[in-house]
Amino acid sequence: MCGIVGYTGKRDCIPILIEGLKRLEYRGYDSAGIGYFDKDKLAYIKRKGRVTELESLVEGGKIVSKTGIGHTRWATHGIPNEINAHPHFSKNRDILLIHNGIIENYQALKKILINEGYKFESETDSEVIVHLIDRFIKKGYSFSDSVRHTLIEIEGTYGLAIIYEKEPDKIIAAKKGSPLVIGIGGDENIIASDINALIAHTKQVIYLEDYEIAEITKEGILVRNIHDIPVEKEVIELSMTVEEISKGGYSTFMLKEIFEQPDALTNAMRGRIIVDEGRVKLGGLEGIMDRLYHSERIIISGCGTSWHAGLVGEYMFEQYLRIPTEVEYASEFRYRNPVLSEKDAVIFISQSGETADTLAALKEAKTKGALCLGICNAVGSSIARESHGGVYTHAGPEIGVASTKAFTSQLVVLALITILLARRKELSLTDGRNLLTEFQSIPDKVRKILELNNQIEKIAEDFKNSTNFLYLGRGYNFPVALEGALKLKEISYIHAEGYPAAEMKHGPIALIDENMPVVVIAPKDSTYEKIISNIQEVKARNGKIIAIAIEGDDEIEKIVDYVIRVPDTIRIFMPILTVLPLQLLAYHIAVNKGLNVDQPRNLAKSVTVE
Ligand code: M6R
Repeated sequence: MCGIVGYTGKRDCIPILIEGLKRLEYRGYDSAGIGYFDKDKLAYIKRKGRVTELESLVEGGKIVSKTGIGHTRWATHGIPNEINAHPHFSKNRDILLIHNGIIENYQALKKILINEGYKFESETDSEVIVHLIDRFIKKGYSFSDSVRHTLIEIEGTYGLAIIYEKEPDKIIAAKKGSPLVIGIGGDENIIASDINALIAHTKQVIYLEDYEIAEITKEGILVRNIHDIPVEKEVIELSMTVEEISKGGYSTFMLKEIFEQPDALTNAMRGRIIVDEGRVKLGGLEGIMDRLYHSERIIISGCGTSWHAGLVGEYMFEQYLRIPTEVEYASEFRYRNPVLSEKDAVIFISQSGETADTLAALKEAKTKGALCLGICNAVGSSIARESHGGVYTHAGPEIGVASTKAFTSQLVVLALITILLARRKELSLTDGRNLLTEFQSIPDKVRKILELNNQIEKIAEDFKNSTNFLYLGRGYNFPVALEGALKLKEISYIHAEGYPAAEMKHGPIALIDENMPVVVIAPKDSTYEKIISNIQEVKARNGKIIAIAIEGDDEIEKIVDYVIRVPDTIRIFMPILTVLPLQLLAYHIAVNKGLNVDQPRNLAKSVTVE
């Protein structure tokens, strides 16, 4: 994780770095720092805590520099304090470095460097890199060759930006496993961990690939690989706007993103549905359609919320395609030596497209010959680029750490893939049309549920002091229970568990008493009677029930404490609706507790370390 930014050009870099760091803060917010040229010497300012702490120290043109680098940290090695904050200096204080990633062999390298007389100021793994560069410079290598030779020695992942006193107005950037993008301006160039930090300055970008090193000055960008071979890079034109990454009148990004869902889902469907023909069209799958269709097994992999979306996908695929489907945590899958062949299709789901475990799992599946697809939100992200084919969710940038619109858009894309393949299998024209007609009504149904915001806010007030929650669901709504529990945990710090409702009596029922709120997802489907029995079991033990039920279900309110009603729909689409009240419930409980929902403690939006 961590966010990095760098600028070299005709303007003062300080406000550009600060603004960029604010846009990257969702990647980590333990500490922040900038490195710059103070006349012809290098200098840094760093602080524990948020970028605003740093901003107050540099405001009002106190410092001016034309070249600089900035970092916002998510701590891995070393506690979040000022010393461990980036940038890090070399021995003679003539090289400054910022790093996003993990250096796995840093202890061995540190030992060697200490034996050679290097002194370490911080507990970070990153500091070894700056000392190694210094060591090569001392041996007579140029700045860029010193960086290159250093990268050959280190193991692990990195997104790096380095400045050197003797070569002012130049930034060297390098990437392996952590994202890095270069924005091309007129008389200026900017680097950043993602496009959010540079979209206000330019729409023309170059994505750096693993093992590539870029020398960046205001005049140009020179990219070579780690073997010193020049690389021709494609310049990509971005379509994102600054408005898309601002709060647009909402108090938090999370609330904005919850309310953006009707539009996000419409965007995920746009141009992909042909109702008359009962058919779906997905350009990103065209080249691999036959192979996908003939796959004998589908594996879906991801982390966190994306993994939950995968679980819903499993229900969709098995119901409509009758293809055996498994869902795997990417972090487990990558190390388990999974049994895979060219007859398998593996779908990797990731909002950011940069999650380290998901990316590594994708590389492993590719090595083993499986067909690899990506469902990503971030256009041009590593997972999207590494996959054989894929589908973008087009939800727009998601900045709040808690995933909301990304999840529902992932469900839309999974449903699109299901219907696309099902029509080539056994789904009839009439059934295809009916499914798609209902599908198109989902954004309006979402709009209707969001109108319940005030009701849900009131319910949330009654639970702000709860310390535990249980979430129960069956079938398609079991993953929704997991997702509801994750939302509550991550932003309100309340312990919450999601369970398949029937599993409750195999253990969790022991937890139930008058202090245990239980959220039950209870649409009127084939398991409705069973879930009512589960509700009765909770009530018999004095548990408090919040039910998510469908409109017109008047029976349920007689047995539960609170009811939140959603419009009815076909089973396959139901999770898109039932998750919305759970997002709002978690949101309002956290806000009631006075917590920062956009940047919850210990978390980062994009987990680019293992
Ligand atoms: O970017 P990804 O979808 O790969 O991220 C995966 C998880 O880190 C992410 O979903 C995480 O669980 C969210 N904070 C959940 O709200």
